[in-house]
Amino acid sequence: MSKKIVVLISGSGSNLQALIDAERQGELGGTITLVVSNKKSAFGLTRAADASIPTHVRTLKEYKDAGKTREDFDKDLAEYIAETQHPDLIVLAGWMHILSPAFIDRFRGKIINLHPALPGEFDGAHAIDRAYSEFKAGKRTKTGVMVHFVIPEVDKGKPILTQNIPCVEGDSLADLENRIHVVEHEILPRAVKLVLKENYVS
Ligand code: GRF
Repeated sequence: MSKKIVVLISGSGSNLQALIDAERQGELGGTITLVVSNKKSAFGLTRAADASIPTHVRTLKEYKDAGKTREDFDKDLAEYIAETQHPDLIVLAGWMHILSPAFIDRFRGKIINLHPALPGEFDGAHAIDRAYSEFKAGKRTKTGVMVHFVIPEVDKGKPILTQNIPCVEGDSLADLENRIHVVEHEILPRAVKLVLKENYVS
């Protein structure tokens, strides 16, 4: 029985595409059974549709407009995914919504996240911009990427794979971003395959 993977996105989905391509090459160690987005306009939804992968859109705005909370959103989304997918792994690939214990506790040890920085360096949003500013200020010469398990503390879960990425003299922010995305597209499928292996311990 192929391992079931649910991918959560919020935007362009280039990392989702890397997972789809790896699955097609038999290099993912499982099957993407659902793509979830918290943004209706996410281009990643088009990538999923083009790959005939079912999608589900749920926005926090709908909840807020109905007087409901973030926890309600997280709890309902967890319930929906658990009941309809029974996933072996949940992958946050450019999912820009901080999950609460209402979601995380439902899938303990089964949620991984891609983050464009090294462990403990630039937790949270705008990690690439912040690294670039330090580079331009002469305070650093490298940054990196990590895939880690998700716990309630943002970007603090146990790293699965990390990779250093040099900041090169003359780099524009876009140069650094592109260099980071190339590494992300390689490291995320590799981390998924590693975690889905029988004896991987979270
Ligand atoms: C990636 O750089 C990821 O590390 C960050 O958001 C970006 C998403 O890119 N959290 P995409 O939507 O997969 O192209």
